[in-house]
Amino acid sequence: MARLAGKVALITGGASGIGEATVRLFVEEGAAVVIADIQDDRGRKLAAELGKRTAYVHADVSREADVSAAIAETVTRFGRLDCLFNNAGYGGVLGAIEEISVAGFDETLGVLLRGVFLGMKHAAPVMKRQASGSIISTASVAGLRTGNGPHVYSAAKAAVIHLTRSVAMELGESGVRVNCICPGGIATPIFGKGLGMSPEQADTTIPLMKGVLEHLQPIQRPGEPLDIAQAALWLASDESSFVNGHALVVDGGLIGGRLWSEVKQRRAMLRAALGLDAQ
Ligand SMILES: NC(=O)c1ccc[n+]([C@@H]2O[C@H](COP(=O)([O-])OP(=O)(O)OC[C@H]3O[C@@H](n4cnc5c(N)ncnc54)[C@H](O)[C@@H]3O)[C@@H](O)[C@H]2O)c1
Repeated sequence: MARLAGKVALITGGASGIGEATVRLFVEEGAAVVIADIQDDRGRKLAAELGKRTAYVHADVSREADVSAAIAETVTRFGRLDCLFNNAGYGGVLGAIEEISVAGFDETLGVLLRGVFLGMKHAAPVMKRQASGSIISTASVAGLRTGNGPHVYSAAKAAVIHLTRSVAMELGESGVRVNCICPGGIATPIFGKGLGMSPEQADTTIPLMKGVLEHLQPIQRPGEPLDIAQAALWLASDESSFVNGHALVVDGGLIGGRLWSEVKQRRAMLRAALGLDAQ
C-alpha cells in the first residue's frame, strides 16, 4: 500500500514509542520522513535502518530555533511539508499540587504545549504556501478526563486539544487541516521514564506495561504504538481530507466510563449491602 505516496512528513519524538511506530508506518506507506528528537543515537539508528527517504534531526521541541530548523531542514531535503506530527512528549512534573515547582510546571508546558504551538507556528507558513497540509498533535485522554495523568500533563494535553480546534479554524481556510489524537494507555517506555528509569531500562518494562494496561479498557488488550500510528496515517492521508479540528480518541473505550465487569461487581455489592441475596 502507498497511502502517503509522494508526501513528506516531520515526526517529533520519532525515535521511540508512538513516534517510532509512526515513522515506520509512514515510510512503509510511501512517505519521506524526517525524525526529530533529542535521543540522537536512537533517531540516527532508525533513520539509517529505514534508508534514504528518512533523515534524523536533533530538535528539542521546547526551543523555537530547533523547531524552525527542523521544518526548514525537511523542506530543504525533501522539497515540501505535507504532514507535521507534533508527538514529542513525556510525563512531566509529578506530585500533589502543593509539591509542584514553578520550574517543573514551566518545563512541562514547555515541551507538551509550547512544543506543539511552535510546530504549528512554523509549519503554517510552509503549508499555507502549498495550500495543503495536515498538522497532527498527540494529545491524550488525560486532556479530556481527569485521573488519567499527572496534573500539569493533563492540563497541557487539554490545552493541546483546544489549540488544535482554534488553529484549525484559522488554517482550514488555507487548505491546511489541524487535528489531534487522544491515545489511551499505550505500552511505551514513557511510563518507566516518568518514574526515573533510563530509556534503556524503560524499554525493558514494555512487557510489564502491557500486563498493566491490558484490562484498563473494554477492549481487553494493551494499546500498542501501532494503534496510534494507524490513526495518524489516516489523518495524514487524503482519506481524511474533510476532517479538521478533530480530537480523535484511540483508547479502546477507556474514557467511555466504568467497565461493564465493574458495574456488575458494584451491583452485586449493592445487592449484598441491601441484604437482597439473603432473601
Ligand atoms: N504511552 C501512552 O500511554 C500515551 C498516552 C497518551 C498520550 N501519549 C503521548 O504520546 C506521545 C509519545 O509518547 P510515547 O508514549 O511514545 O513515549 P516515548 O517516551 O516512547 O516517546 C516520546 C519521544 O519524545 C521524545 N522527546 C521527549 N522530550 C522531547 C523534547 N523536548 N524534544 C524532542 N523530543 C522529545 C523522547 O526522546 C521520545 O523519543 C507523547 O506526547 C505522550 O504524551 C502517550
